[in-house]
Parts: sequence; structure tokens; C-alpha cells
Amino acid sequence: MNILVTGGAGYIGSHVTLSLLDKGYNVIVLDNFSNSSPKVMNRIKKISEKTLKVIQGDILDSALLATTFKEHSIDAVFHFAGLKSVAESTNQPGRYYQTNVTGTLNLCQAMITARVFNLVFSSSATVYGEKHHMPLRECYETGTATNPYGRSKYIAETILKDLAAATPQLKIAVLRYFNPIGAHPSGLIGENPSGIPNNLLPYIGKVATGQLPELCVHGSDYPTIDGTGVRDYIHVMDLAYGHVKALEALSDRSGVSIWNLGTGKGYSVLEMIEAFEKSSGCTIPFKFGSRRDGDIPASWADISKIQSELQWEPRFSLDQMMSDTWRWLTNNPWGYEQ
Ligand code: NAD
Ligand code: UFG
Repeated sequence: MNILVTGGAGYIGSHVTLSLLDKGYNVIVLDNFSNSSPKVMNRIKKISEKTLKVIQGDILDSALLATTFKEHSIDAVFHFAGLKSVAESTNQPGRYYQTNVTGTLNLCQAMITARVFNLVFSSSATVYGEKHHMPLRECYETGTATNPYGRSKYIAETILKDLAAATPQLKIAVLRYFNPIGAHPSGLIGENPSGIPNNLLPYIGKVATGQLPELCVHGSDYPTIDGTGVRDYIHVMDLAYGHVKALEALSDRSGVSIWNLGTGKGYSVLEMIEAFEKSSGCTIPFKFGSRRDGDIPASWADISKIQSELQWEPRFSLDQMMSDTWRWLTNNPWGYEQ
């Protein structure tokens, strides 16, 4: 089975590519490397001892998509290519809608023209907005996201539902990620943020490796266990395994199936700092700052739907998330550029 992975050089796409190769699928990666390094491909080949095809290109390039589908007998598409910074999306909303909405539509139109009907789509817990009780369930209302990034994922989900209603052959898995962290246990691939990271674990990593002086904890007065924000952190390999299970389930389904991908357990920022310090042996200097715009106090998933429908379970503990992150960071403090 041949699988096209858009954004396959990125953090999540690279780990899913490995899981797919491991399961014996043929993978074709399409990535413009705007937020990743082509060097990750050699690492994937090294770990998997398999080959894969890489196309440098953009999902906004409809002609390239048409050629890609014509030249390869593609059975399914995993769509990771997109922009993901909440803060950046507020300053550059047009760019975010162009890539995340127009790019997704372009891809789907090329798929339908080429009669490729299986799609696994990267969505986000951010589509739930902030009005709900925890844990978040797939049936909860969406569309109240607090920023353009979240709205771009909500609009993309809506487009997928409309396309599936009009094209009954389409089988689409929408996976709503909570907070992916960690790295492949080999220490050869991991998250490789450019510039100053926005997300918690990459920021802690830069402090631990001495590239940033201290962490700012955004808010200490939330109605949570210790006043700091609570999130559902999931090991990227558990996330990857969830994608493989979703693909396998699509053959018996039609239309759009939505699954949360989290662990069902929330941790506060202070608990995350403590867990990282324990695994790494480093001390993370931090100060308390004000709340970050657009942040919600807490977010964690109800995972009963994916557990019962896909027999998927998270397998990695918080300690493993931290030790795998630390192995990746100590082996590659400058990411792939060393
Ligand atoms: P990433 O930035 O590491 O990977 C995205 C990849 O897509 C990169 O390799 C980038 O070069 C590529 N890309 C970007 N625009 C492209 C374009 N126009 N054409 C071709 N390639 C393009 O991000 P990630 O963390 O791996 O996220 C993957 C997907 O999951 C994204 O759609 C993101 O919105 C979604 N998501 C991520 C998180 C998270 O916390 N990492 C949470 C929820 C959802
Ligand atoms: N935080 C800090 N200091 C930092 C960075 C983060 O205290 O330097 C706190 C945040 O305030 C929040 C928690 O750490 O309480 C997690 O923040 P992240 O930025 O790591 O993650 P978010 O939950 O804000 O957002 C992430 C992705 C989004 C995605 C969302 C849900 O960035 O793209 O998870 O999947 F939509």
C-alpha cells in the first residue's frame, strides 16, 4: 500500500512516517521544508532500514499534486503539512488560512480527481474552544476557537465533512491532537523548532541545553491544582500509533470519523517542570509571568471513543515522554543542524 505523507519531514509527520514504514507501508513524503530539515529523511532511513521517496514541494501547488497522484499509485494520504503557531496565526491570519484551509482543499480536490479516497487529517484540540467541561469529548460543539490557527483547523474539518457528504467514497479520519511531546526512543528524530519556541516542552528543552536562560510560566492564578495551566501531553510515538490504527479502521468505515488523541490525563506546568527535572537531572530556572493571551486554564481528552473503536491505548508514561525528549536533546542540542 502506497501512502502520501504531506509534511512528512515535520515533527509529527516524521514519527508517523517511521511507524508506517515499520508496518510495511510504502511512503512518499511531500514537504516544502519550510519548517523542517531534509536531513530528517536520512535519520528515518537509518532507523527503519527502509527507503522512501521524497518530493520537495508545496500543497498549494495544484499542478504538482496532480502529477504526484498521476505518477504514484497512492492508496491513502496522511495530511500533516500546515502551519501551527497560535501566536503567529494572530499576526499572519491570511498565511494560516492559505496553507491550512486552501492547502487542505487543494489536496482533497487532487485526491478526488485521482480517485484516492482515504485521508487521515491532523486536527487539534484547539477546535473545541474554551466553553466545555473537561474531559473534552468528540461530540462537543466546535467552532469557538480563540485564534486564527484554531479556526483554520475548524474550517478544514468543516470542508472535509462537506466533501465527504458529496463524495460517498471518501473515508476520512480527523484526529484531534492534544499536546504531542517526546521523541523516537532511538534519540535520532525529535522536535526541531526554529527560533524561540512557543510550546512548553521545546522551551524547557532550550533552557535545559543552556540556549535560553529561564522559562516563564504563563499564569499562576488559574483554577487548577497549583494555579498553572493543565494540558494533556501525549508521547509522539503513541500519537503515531494512533494514526496507523485510524488508517486500518478506515476500510470498514465511510464519511468522516473523528477521534481525540490524548492520554486522558492532565498535568500542570509545574508538574511538567518537575517531571522533566527528574528525568534529565537538570534544574529548570523559571519565573511566574502573566497569563498568555488566548490560553485556557485546562484541557484534557476523553479518550473512550478511540479506545473502544480502535482498541488504541496510550503506552508511554510521562516519565518516558521526558526521558525520550531528553535523549533527543542531549544527542541533538541544535536539532538536525550539527
Ligand atoms: P511541523 O511544523 O513540525 O511539520 C509540518 C510540516 O509541514 C513541516 O515539515 C513543514 O515544512 C511542512 N509544510 C508546511 N507548509 C507546507 C506547505 N505549504 N507545503 C508542503 N509542506 C508544508 O508541525 P507538526 O508539529 O509536525 O504538526 C503537523 C500537523 O499537526 C500540523 O497540521 C499541525 O497544525 C497539527 N497539530 C500539531 C500539534 C502540535 O502540538 N505539534 C497539535 C495539534 C495539531
Ligand atoms: N506555557 C508556559 N510557558 C511557556 C510555554 C507554555 O507556561 O513558555 C504553558 C502554557 O501557558 C500552557 C501550557 O504551558 O498552560 C502548554 O502550552 P503549549 O504552548 O505547549 O501548548 P498549548 O496547549 O497552548 O497549545 C498546543 C499547540 C496548539 C494546539 C494545542 C491543542 O501549540 O497548536 O496544543 O492541541 F492547538
